[in-house]
Amino acid sequence: MYLGIQNEQKTSMCRLWITCCVLLLLTGLSCRQEKTQTKITIAFSQCVGNDAWRETMLQEMYRELSFHPEIAFLYRDANGNSQTQIEQIRELLAKDIDILIVSPNEAEPLTPIVDSVFQQDIPIIVTDRKTSSGLYNAYVGADNTAIGLLAGKYIDNILQGKGKIGIVRGLAGSSPAMEREKGLLQALEKTPGITVDLVLNGNWEKSSAYQLANSQIERIVNCDLIFAFNDQMALGIRQALRDHSIQKDIHIIGVDALPGKGNGLEEVTKGSLSASLLYPTGGAESIRTALAILQKKNYTRENILSTLVIDQRNADLMVMQSRKIENQQKDIDTQQSFIKEQNKIYQNQRTILNILVISLALAVIFGGISIIVIKSNREKNKHLEKQNEEILTQQQQIVDMSRQIQEVSEAKSKFFTNVSHEFKTPLTLILAPLEELEKEREISPEGKEQLARIKRNTKKLQHLVADLIDIHRMDKSKLRLQSSPVQIDLFIQQVLASFKPLSQKKRISLSFKSKTPRKEIWLDDYLMEQALSNLLSNAFKYTQTGGKIDVVVEENTFGDYLHIRILDNGLGISPTDIDHVFDPFYQGEQHLAGSGIGLAYVKEIVELHHGQITVSSKQHVGSSFTLRLPVGNAHLLDEEIKKQNTPIATIQTDFEEEFTPVDDPTVQNVSFHSNKSSNILIVEDHTDIRSFLKNILEKEYNVFFAPTYVEAIEQVEKRYPDLIICDIMLPDGSGLELLKTVKNNTRSSQIPVLLLSAVDQDETKIESMKLMADAYLTKPFNVEYLKAVIANLILSRKRLKERYSSLVEPLDPMSETPHTEQDKRFLQHLDLVVEARIDDQTLSIEDIAEELNISRVQLYRKTKSLLHCSVNEYVLQRRLHKSKHLIMEGYHINEVADKVGFSSATYYTVAFKKQFGITPTTFKKELLKRS
Ligand code: FRU
Repeated sequence: MYLGIQNEQKTSMCRLWITCCVLLLLTGLSCRQEKTQTKITIAFSQCVGNDAWRETMLQEMYRELSFHPEIAFLYRDANGNSQTQIEQIRELLAKDIDILIVSPNEAEPLTPIVDSVFQQDIPIIVTDRKTSSGLYNAYVGADNTAIGLLAGKYIDNILQGKGKIGIVRGLAGSSPAMEREKGLLQALEKTPGITVDLVLNGNWEKSSAYQLANSQIERIVNCDLIFAFNDQMALGIRQALRDHSIQKDIHIIGVDALPGKGNGLEEVTKGSLSASLLYPTGGAESIRTALAILQKKNYTRENILSTLVIDQRNADLMVMQSRKIENQQKDIDTQQSFIKEQNKIYQNQRTILNILVISLALAVIFGGISIIVIKSNREKNKHLEKQNEEILTQQQQIVDMSRQIQEVSEAKSKFFTNVSHEFKTPLTLILAPLEELEKEREISPEGKEQLARIKRNTKKLQHLVADLIDIHRMDKSKLRLQSSPVQIDLFIQQVLASFKPLSQKKRISLSFKSKTPRKEIWLDDYLMEQALSNLLSNAFKYTQTGGKIDVVVEENTFGDYLHIRILDNGLGISPTDIDHVFDPFYQGEQHLAGSGIGLAYVKEIVELHHGQITVSSKQHVGSSFTLRLPVGNAHLLDEEIKKQNTPIATIQTDFEEEFTPVDDPTVQNVSFHSNKSSNILIVEDHTDIRSFLKNILEKEYNVFFAPTYVEAIEQVEKRYPDLIICDIMLPDGSGLELLKTVKNNTRSSQIPVLLLSAVDQDETKIESMKLMADAYLTKPFNVEYLKAVIANLILSRKRLKERYSSLVEPLDPMSETPHTEQDKRFLQHLDLVVEARIDDQTLSIEDIAEELNISRVQLYRKTKSLLHCSVNEYVLQRRLHKSKHLIMEGYHINEVADKVGFSSATYYTVAFKKQFGITPTTFKKELLKRS
């Protein structure tokens, strides 16, 4: 969402940026367009452009234009072709010109187009040559009639009123040709002695006159003077005369007097031409007039440029002047190009400045935009932060709520567990005396029947409780796999053993076949036992008397799975039920597995083992359940492997009425000792359980009780019992606390502790074992089994004690008789304290006295009187006697010395030899020989 806002901002900034750029561009463009709009376009249609005179005209125009950069200039050259010139004028008109300057090639053909331009109100300036209509805004050029007149007069002057002349005319249709002839003839009318003997029609070009002169050279030679209508044609005649090596001094006069190399003026100075009549091009004047017209200033319609005759008398002066002008013009051109350069630089700088100004403007705009955006971002961020805070608060509330819910649910769950487990105790208290009662002989058959009914229903209740606990476990996903390698045949036989009585009673044959050489499989034996027992229980339930149940173990073809099959020939499962047998709480037609949870629980267990369970069944033929379990342990996660072989009591509550522990192979080996001298402390707050335990144990043991933790500790201190039976849930603290205290105290740590609890949870069992519990039995317990465990624990302890103390008979505190009870207890304590710290080199008399809670002197006196030796002697004896035992166990002498608290093996050897007359090494050798 936040990113979305940022993107939106970016997009809007982008849009803003683009808008600004476009605006600035448009502004720039509009400025430029304004300038373009203010530009004036002057078009110039030239009749012919390839001679020096015309080039000079154009140069003058450009020079003048250079003062007016706002003027656009369009130039067209018709190459002496009138039709081309007409078309070019049309083309120029289409270009939206402001004014047209035209030098018409021929008057007649060009008149209509020039007139039409004039009529379209497009200003038109006619220069040099004219049209026949005379429709134009202005004329710029010399008066050609006047030039003709001036030429006539000059000729009269040269020839002194008598002579023959020839004329070379220009392009016939062009106005200067016509007008110059007209003026000449007018002037000659007054001088009858001068006759025009020759008329040649040139076309203003040198070559045309040259050709004409060549063809009519005699006639030219016959003339005294040739008047060519321009200098170029005059020079063509001179060339022809020279080429014909004519010696006669024939005067040749031209028009134009254009400065520059090879042009009329210079040729006059050279004498090639006798004279030339100045005919200015009027280029600058044409542009100036055009500007005046366009700027609506006053202008002269007829701009007649002055003329004069240039001959040997004034030619040099004219040349000088023209050179000066030329130089000035060059200066102007240089200045102009410099100005142009400067202008270019100025334009560039202006562009840069514009860019800078635009950039600055953009920077200001963006700065502004950025400030706005940052401001709005901050606001948005604040808003987001606020939202975030709200979300976090809500999250926290949710977390709190869920914690509360979890707490409530855990409380409920705990309550549920406790209640479920609480059911077990009263059920035990019903079942156990019931079993005792059943043994009574004097019960009538009716009474027995009623007892059996009570027992059946109590068992049913037990099942229900077990199911409830299973449901709870499944519900809480508490099942955790703790696999270890298990001997599969043995494991299954053990499970089957508990069903033997039932099979005998129901006369159902129960067989086991192993079709695999595989001996070991990784299982959680506790869970798998539940699964198999559940399946067997079911099989027994739905198999009628005389039927059979087979358990078969086999491998799959690849040897990577083990199949455990439980087959029966019982009622079978209906096709409608078979798809649901593993659904939790499914109550099929036949009320499968009693509570409906059993098979779902089995499935859960099998899947927990990374296996599968399948079922096939045919009604009235039988059912087959197959457990497919992976072999090895590669499939198991680290946490699914049991870390240490924790001695968890795996004896499970029975599933059917007839279970008798005598058949249990684990119990068969136990030898029972009816030894009333053994003391058992029962730590139990439940009166009924207390009295029940008393009933079953008092025949064989001295039983005394403590209902609370505190009283139990007192009893332990006072009596040092041979065994403690302790309930885990004590009113003033957990039984585990008692276990911890007993096992952490060196004086009581040897006392076996049997935990008896309704809590059937692995966590509790594991914790108990970690705290060094010696056995863990769950309620409801089997009386005989309990008795067997008790007997085992007492016997083991006794054997251990004998093993350690038999070697030191003279010092055995228990062997000294007669001793008072108090003395016996003292000696027992002393024995325990020394035994517990026998490997401790630093063990001192003070330590022992402190442990025994008596003074050093008291300890010394008591030891002396009861054992007839000092405490140090006693400790040394204990160390040496224990060392004998360790040697017998196969320990190395150095290790033995260390284990019995000697600082060095040498010192130990010396002490040993002193005590037993031989060295420990010899003693070891002797032993080996004997064995
Ligand atoms: C140049 C030119 C000049 C002459 C004028 C007449 O093209 O021939 O020599 O004076 O044109 O239009």
